[in-house]
Amino acid sequence: MLKNKNIILGVCGSIAAYKAAVLVRLFIKAGANVKVILTADAANFITPLTLATLSKNPVYTQYFEEETGVWSNHVELGLWADYLIIAPASANTMSKMANGLCNNLLSAVYLSAKCPVMFAPAMDLDMWKHQSTQSNIAKLKNYGNILIAPNNGELASGLFGEGRMAEPEEIIAFLIAYIKKDLPLLGKKVLVTAGPTYEAIDPVRFIGNHSSGKMGFAIADQFAKLGAAVTLVSGPTAEKSTQHLTRIDVQSAAEMLDSCRQHFKDSHITIMSAAVADYTPITVASQKIKKQEGELSISLKKTTDILALLGTQKRKGQILVGFALETEQEEEHAKAKLLKKNLDLIVLNSLKDKGAGFKTDTNKITIFNKNFDKKEFEVKSKTAVAVDISNEIMKLLSK
Ligand code: CTP
Repeated sequence: MLKNKNIILGVCGSIAAYKAAVLVRLFIKAGANVKVILTADAANFITPLTLATLSKNPVYTQYFEEETGVWSNHVELGLWADYLIIAPASANTMSKMANGLCNNLLSAVYLSAKCPVMFAPAMDLDMWKHQSTQSNIAKLKNYGNILIAPNNGELASGLFGEGRMAEPEEIIAFLIAYIKKDLPLLGKKVLVTAGPTYEAIDPVRFIGNHSSGKMGFAIADQFAKLGAAVTLVSGPTAEKSTQHLTRIDVQSAAEMLDSCRQHFKDSHITIMSAAVADYTPITVASQKIKKQEGELSISLKKTTDILALLGTQKRKGQILVGFALETEQEEEHAKAKLLKKNLDLIVLNSLKDKGAGFKTDTNKITIFNKNFDKKEFEVKSKTAVAVDISNEIMKLLSK
């Protein structure tokens, strides 16, 4: 659940700071990437070296590290994080967060972060009970931050009561439970195709197309974010996935067909966004074809339409989504493909639309369902388009 998740752990000045070492170790064991920010007081309780060693990353303590001359960019750190966990959260730091005070790196990262923020307070019983602390916590929750409540127990002061930071194992369990709740597609298998295919002519040449794979990768990442187990079958592309998924690299339409056949059986949702070659050379020359006088003809044969084939194999409950890239009579062609290939949805791209098509970071789509209900979307980033596509597919699942 935490694999490849980017976690910033903010550690404040409290005796519970020593537990940050265990917490970092558990995060790393679970496969997360961890960066630690220590407040100045926290560095009195636990050394940066301990946390740097455990997290396998430099520890951040201030904007400007005099020794190294490195400037820590709070905006970059804030945007890097999938989760910001502040544990222990001291009364002082919570007060800063509640009031927008921004006089150290941790509070600046907090204000810059766009991800969920969780805070696990640690303090003495009376500090915890104080109206100021409680009203700061109410404010923080109101801003959407998530409280990991402290336990009742023995406190560093010798007193007994509320204010003892949640144990590292409890913090991990809390985060995992939170992520699960956020994952409506947990347990679902999703197959996505992306990119072009390359059909070999000879050992150095091929027939390909301009597909960059950006749209397919954005879709695969989006479904992985929703908790699905995603298999991404990709043609040659420079794209990289940002999420944890199974990627299968293929070259030709025939290889893509093999992989799709294999994975379609188990998949609950299949989205075919690859630009698959419709034709492939009948024979592939074993040596580089030499230049000759006159013209050269290459005979082509049809490839298997993978999407249409899967349409014939589709079982009840499986969702199959195709793309249609058109340059004229867009809607008619898209609807015809939806019917012919036995699809549940078709996503239409028109090359006539500005901001749509190959290689751009944006796209403009129209989606048709089986009843030919039409949903038209604005030009958006491909990441946002992937969210729209996943929303339409989720609607089918809830029916
Ligand atoms: N597709 C496929 N296998 C092929 C060709 C296309 O799986 N051999 C899929 C694409 O991934 C896409 C959909 O079919 O989801 C439509 O592709 P598109 O190229 O728009 O249409 P075609 O069916 O190939 O028809 P045409 O090229 O004549 O428009």
